[in-house]
Amino acid sequence: MARPQAKEGVLRVTPYAGSEAKAEGGQLINISSNESAFGASARAANAYAEAVANLRRYPEIDARSLRQALAAHYGLEAERIICGTGSDQIIDLIALAYAGVGDEVVYSAHGFQMYPIAAHAVGAMPVAAPETDLTADVDALLGAVNERTRIVFVANPNNPTGTLVDAADLARLHAGLPGNVLLVIDAAYAEYVTRTDYEPGVELVRTHDNVVMTRTFSKIYALAALRVGWAYGPQEIIGILDRIRPPFNVSAPAIAAAIAALGDRDHTERARRHNDEVLPWFSDQVRALGLEVNPSAANFVIVRFDPETPKNAEAAYQYLFGKGIVTRRVGGYGLPDWVRLSIGTREEMTAVLAALKEFLEKND
Ligand SMILES: Cc1ncc(COP(=O)(O)O)c(C=O)c1O
Repeated sequence: MARPQAKEGVLRVTPYAGSEAKAEGGQLINISSNESAFGASARAANAYAEAVANLRRYPEIDARSLRQALAAHYGLEAERIICGTGSDQIIDLIALAYAGVGDEVVYSAHGFQMYPIAAHAVGAMPVAAPETDLTADVDALLGAVNERTRIVFVANPNNPTGTLVDAADLARLHAGLPGNVLLVIDAAYAEYVTRTDYEPGVELVRTHDNVVMTRTFSKIYALAALRVGWAYGPQEIIGILDRIRPPFNVSAPAIAAAIAALGDRDHTERARRHNDEVLPWFSDQVRALGLEVNPSAANFVIVRFDPETPKNAEAAYQYLFGKGIVTRRVGGYGLPDWVRLSIGTREEMTAVLAALKEFLEKND
């Protein structure tokens, strides 16, 4: 009997592997999704609660007030900003608008999973460029570009590796791309980066017609549940994305909370400082246990476990899970020997260290 058939590209998608944390709680420590170590700003939570009074109303069709708040906060132009239901939606919109059957979408081999998913969904072919030292390799990315390439996605810093491409290399990547290829710089973790050779993408967007920077409220702003992301780009590209953006795609409570979160600079600064202290401390402590930790510029690290021993990545993941500590396996990113851990509170990370030590010391 005839049955509806999904498009070929869709059938090629490997579904996004999310956290195994139970939505209803029950775990002691959830460090599986690179969420903020702290909760959202109290100002954001209050703004969200106040929005309850107006639930029967549609939100702004284009998140205008949030775009204006973002423009003021980051020194940008509101008409060159688009908001999405998470930055995931913006990644999808970019693929939908700029790639299709017969096209290629380039990303780095251990890059964020949504890029190949978005490419397949529109019938385009994702092309993974090899990395060097678990870092996006500009020459390899450029080498993967050909006349079929429409988009190059770079997460900077990258999830799950935590590594980044410095401003000079990013500019070199852009300079090597043909003008008809769109460079998307996904700076979801930009606010955590303290390295001075880093540029989230604003300068490249300002000075070129083929660069878009995406950002999110899911990480340092701790509003992952509300699904708010945004992008800054040339007005023409933002206009194109706007044509296919579902109207009302950011809810009114989410808009209100995001604006309030932007305004609470102390809260954001506290989260940044916390990460600055705990990320290097935790990384050093894990190294002192004899494990390899990939240097990270974001709010998470990947830790390598020896695949030749019973203390391998799967065993580590399961052991921690059994202790109520939910981390993330990253085999789907081509990193089967690594486990990703987000930076939680200092108490949480102290408990994680103790559990890791127990795991390594126990007799199998
Ligand atoms: C690199 C990167 N980009 C985008 C996202 C998606 O974020 P959002 O919650 O805004 O959809 C994530 C989330 O983990 C990410 O790691």
